[in-house]
Amino acid sequence: MRVIDKTRTWRTLRNTLEGTIGFVPTMGALHRGHASLLERSVDENDFTVLSIYVNPTQFNNPDDLDNYPDTMEDDLVLAKRLGVDVVIRPTYNDMYADGYRYQVDENEFSRTLCGEHRSGHFTGVLTVVMKLLNLVLPTRAYFGKKDYQQYRLISDMVETFFMNVEIVGCETIRECDGLAVSSRNINLNGETRKVAPRLHKLLTSPYSDEDVAKKLAAVGFDVDYLVTRGRRRFAAASLDSNGLAVRLIDNVECA
Ligand code: PAF
Repeated sequence: MRVIDKTRTWRTLRNTLEGTIGFVPTMGALHRGHASLLERSVDENDFTVLSIYVNPTQFNNPDDLDNYPDTMEDDLVLAKRLGVDVVIRPTYNDMYADGYRYQVDENEFSRTLCGEHRSGHFTGVLTVVMKLLNLVLPTRAYFGKKDYQQYRLISDMVETFFMNVEIVGCETIRECDGLAVSSRNINLNGETRKVAPRLHKLLTSPYSDEDVAKKLAAVGFDVDYLVTRGRRRFAAASLDSNGLAVRLIDNVECA
C-alpha cells in the first residue's frame, strides 16, 4: 500500500494506472462503516484509493473541527488489512491552492435539513468532493447512506456537471443496538452512549415526527430537526457529553 501526501505525486501515478479505480473519500477516524465501503470497492475494482482529509471548509463550528478524532496510525493499519492500494493524505495548501475562491454551491436541497443548521457545510463538502473526484479520476466512488443528504447532493452534482464517475450509495452500518456507526460516536461517554440508540429506535417508530422530536428531547437530545421527506425520515440531534455537544444524524426509509 502506498501512502501519498502530495497531489502531484498521485497525479503522476494516476497516469500510469489502467483498469477500474474505486475511491472512498473520508476524513479518517475509520470505523466499520468505512471498512464496508472499502471492502466493496476492493471487491468491485482493480485498484482502491482511500483519501484521508479533514476538510476544514465543511465545518461551520471550530470546536467540532478541533474535536474531530484523529486515528491516523490505526486508519493506515486497517486500510492495509482491507487491501487498499493507495492512501492519499493531501494538505490544506495542496487542496485549496486557490484559497477557496472557487466553490460548488447548490442552492435548494443543500439549504434544508443539515444545511439549515450548518451554514456553508454542503458547499464545503461539494467543493472538496468535486476536487477529490477530479484528482483521483475514479471509476466508482463510494458513499454511506447515513449521510443521505450528502450522498444525494453528490450524486446530483456528478450528473449535473457530466462527471464521468459512478456514485455508489451504501447502506448504513449499525451497532447491535441500532446506533449508526460514526466517527463521532467516540466522543460519547458511558451515559450518552446508552441514550444514543434511542435516535434510531424512535426514527423507526410509528409516532408522528412531532412526537418523536418530543420524546428525543425528553431523554436529553437537543433536536436540530426531525422530518419526513418523501419516503425517508431524517433526524439530527446532539447529546451533551461532558460539555461537548455530540451531534448524531440518522435516516431511515419509511415502512
Ligand atoms: O463524509 C465525509 O466523511 C466527508 O463529508 C467527505 C465526503 C469525505 C468530504 O470531506
